[in-house]
Amino acid sequence: MAEAIAQGARDEDVAGVELRFLHAGDAGPDDLLWADALLIGSPENFGYLSGMVKDFLDRTFYEVEGKLSPLPYAAFISAGNDGTGAIRALERIANGYPFVKVQDPLISRGEITQEDLDACRELGLTLAAGLEVGLY
Ligand SMILES: Cc1cc2nc3c(=O)[nH]c(=O)nc-3n(C[C@H](O)[C@H](O)[C@H](O)COP(=O)(O)O)c2cc1C
Repeated sequence: MAEAIAQGARDEDVAGVELRFLHAGDAGPDDLLWADALLIGSPENFGYLSGMVKDFLDRTFYEVEGKLSPLPYAAFISAGNDGTGAIRALERIANGYPFVKVQDPLISRGEITQEDLDACRELGLTLAAGLEVGLY
């Protein structure tokens, strides 16, 4: 899903948008302070975000507190059959950062389908195009 989103964000129709495509464990506060928008994804594990995504959020919160302008974001979740717990958790956390939701979350349930991947590509393109035209 992340790769499809990155493909959309790198669409040749969008110029001048730079992408940092990072695993949660490799991302830090400097990336959040650098970014003009955030696409954040996680599997849903035990009705919550993955440990690595939660770790990223835990590690960066105090580092960016007071320095981050509300950051436009959208979420994508891979789940076995639900995904709503991960979204609920992320939306609560987003209020604290603050991240501002600019697109509805994508949830893939079960096997990731071509339809899911197309929606991911579209989401990446939408955010990149929105940044390019100064929508966010
Ligand atoms: C430890 C664990 C907990 C899980 N908990 C949930 C869950 O609460 N809800 C759900 O819909 N799927 C759950 N799943 C299924 C995963 O969300 C699903 O397999 C997802 O596609 C994994 O994405 P990944 O292949 O990118 O790791 C769980 C899987 C594991 C391994």
